[in-house]
Amino acid sequence: MDDSVMKNILVTGGAGFIGSHVVRHFVNRYPDYRITNLDALTYAGNLENLRDIEDKPYYRFVKADITDASAMNELFEVEVFDGVIHLAAESHVDRSISNPSAFVMTNVIGTVNLLNAARATWNGKYEGKMFYHISTDEVYGSLQHGKGMFTEETPYDPHSPYSASKASSDHFVRAYYDTYGLPAVISNCSNNYGPYQFPEKLIPLFINNIRNRKSLPVYGGSLFIHK
Ligand SMILES: NC(=O)c1ccc[n+]([C@@H]2O[C@H](COP(=O)([O-])OP(=O)(O)OC[C@H]3O[C@@H](n4cnc5c(N)ncnc54)[C@H](O)[C@@H]3O)[C@@H](O)[C@H]2O)c1
Repeated sequence: MDDSVMKNILVTGGAGFIGSHVVRHFVNRYPDYRITNLDALTYAGNLENLRDIEDKPYYRFVKADITDASAMNELFEVEVFDGVIHLAAESHVDRSISNPSAFVMTNVIGTVNLLNAARATWNGKYEGKMFYHISTDEVYGSLQHGKGMFTEETPYDPHSPYSASKASSDHFVRAYYDTYGLPAVISNCSNNYGPYQFPEKLIPLFINNIRNRKSLPVYGGSLFIHK
């Protein structure tokens, strides 16, 4: 493969649940993409998720923290990325209730660091460039039963520290698009589930608790499984 025609993509949070699937998908399906997986390997990141592809050509792992602005700037100076797929985040609502500051640091400051680094290296030459920010439907708040669905026009109404930090990062991405013309896309997906998911998340937690006949924690109360 001629290196000059390859797309150079940075995936942040690629050792996490969704990120590991994204990285594997690109590495296995798109031989004309060079993938850099950047992850701080917090409790949620696990390189075992990617053992099967670790030796593939045009794939590399970089251990780094997106809250480190200098490290982000240096990375973007050495490597010109065509696209950023930004998944790195503190992602667990319950943890955001016990330690909101970590969510502000990674989800807000970390995202702004990446936006700054992308903006500086792309330097207004935006053709073929894209910053893809992965967010959550939780920025829209709670959907009332029988009251339709969220759309891109739904006003933001975050309630947990997690959703507030994600809403804030979304606003920064929009602001960089509006203010500097930085090409950006935001998607706001709902609950995902599947292989490599950390077991504290809603769907694996509920499945494990049901199998072990434990209560199902729900905000505002708990459901109990009767033996
Ligand atoms: N899982 C879902 O159902 C869901 C739903 C909606 C949105 N999202 C969003 O999708 C993205 C990925 O979610 P996930 O479930 O895969 O999360 P996850 O917690 O499984 O993975 C997050 C990854 O980010 C890394 N990370 C955390 N802080 C970092 C930092 N400061 N620097 C670098 N890396 C860091 C972790 O090590 C981990 O590998 C998140 O942005 C999340 O908000 C997830």
